[in-house]
Amino acid sequence: MKRVFSGVQPTGNIHIGNYLGALKQFVELQEEMDCVYCIVDLHSITVPQDPKELRKNSLDVAALYLAIGLDAKKSIIFLQSCVPAHAELAWILMCNTYTGELSRMTQFKDKSREKESAPAGLFTYPVLMAADILLYDTDVVPVGNDQKQHLELTRDIAIRINNKYGKTFVVPEYRGMKVGARVMALDDPNAKMSKSAENIHSRISLLDTPEKIKKSIMKSTTDSDGIIGFDIDQKPGVSNLISIYSAFSGSSIKDIENKYVGSGYGTFKNDLVEIINSAIGPIQQRFNDIRHSQELLTILKDGQERAAFRAEVTLSRVKERFGLGL
Ligand code: AMP
Ligand code: TRP
Repeated sequence: MKRVFSGVQPTGNIHIGNYLGALKQFVELQEEMDCVYCIVDLHSITVPQDPKELRKNSLDVAALYLAIGLDAKKSIIFLQSCVPAHAELAWILMCNTYTGELSRMTQFKDKSREKESAPAGLFTYPVLMAADILLYDTDVVPVGNDQKQHLELTRDIAIRINNKYGKTFVVPEYRGMKVGARVMALDDPNAKMSKSAENIHSRISLLDTPEKIKKSIMKSTTDSDGIIGFDIDQKPGVSNLISIYSAFSGSSIKDIENKYVGSGYGTFKNDLVEIINSAIGPIQQRFNDIRHSQELLTILKDGQERAAFRAEVTLSRVKERFGLGL
C-alpha cells in the first residue's frame, strides 16, 4: 500500500484554501493508502508564537482533522514535537543541504523580506519538512501548490543521500488538487489566501460564522463586466470564486458558467455562500463535539506511539548508513 504524509501548521484558523488545497485530499487518500497526518508545531515556531495560543491551535487543528472526516483507525494523527526523530533527522539532512538551495526557496524569501535578520529556523524550515516526509518512507505528499518547491527540495535531498550512501530513502511525489490547489485571497486575487493576512475578509476560516462568511463573500473583489466567466488573467477575482464554487459543489467550471449566463454577481455570490455554509456547517458541528473531549487526547497519544515506532525504524537505518551511534 502506498504511504502518504502531510502536515499543517497550527497557526491561526484553518481556511478554505487549506481545506480545498490539502485537507480534502487527506480524507480521500485515507480510503486507499497508508496515511500519516501531522500537526507541524515545530514549523510554526519559525515565527514568534504565544505558548498558550500555540497549544490551543495545535488541538484545534487536531480536532479539525477529525471533523473533516479523518479517521484515527485509518490514519495516524499526531503532533510533530511529540516525536523527537523529526528534529534529529532534520539535522542529518541539513548537513546534506546547501545554503544556496535554501536561499532560493520562495517562501523563505517572502517571509524574510523586509526583515533585517531572520531566525535560522526560518531558513532551514524546508529541511525539517523533508525530515517529516522522509521519516515515514512516504510515496505521496498531498499539499497545496505553494509547497511544491519544498517537495522538490525534499526529493533532491533524498536522491543525493541515496546516491552517496546507498538506497536510504523513498523519493516522494507531489499530489495536488485539480481545482483548489491555489485558492486566492478574496480581497486580492493576486495573493494566495493566507492565515496571516491582516484583513479577515481576505479568507474564510473553517470555523467562521455563517454571517462572517456571507460578509466576506459579498465583499470579495470581482470586476465591472458582470459576467460569470472563468479567465484567470482577465477576471482573476471571479475565476477564484468560480474555483471555490466548483471545489465545494463538485460542479465543473463549464457547468457553473452555463448555469449563471445572464445572472449577476449578487445571485452567484448568494449561491456560493449557501454552498460554503452547507459544506462547513457539519464540520463545525463535529469540531465542537470533539474539541474538548478526552477522545482527542487519546487519539493524539496513540498516533504519537505509532508514528514514533515507524520513525525510529527509519532513523536507525539512516544512522547506520551514516556511521552514527554504536
Ligand atoms: P499551512 O497553513 O501553511 O501549514 O498550509 C497547510 C496546507 O494548506 C499546505 O498543504 C498548503 O500548501 C495548503 N495551502 C495553504 N494556503 C493555501 C491556498 N491559499 N490555496 C491552496 N492550498 C493552500
Ligand atoms: N510546510 C508546510 C506548509 O506550510 C507544512 C508542512 C510541514 C508539511 N511539514 C510537512 C506539509 C510535510 C507536507 C509534508 O504548509
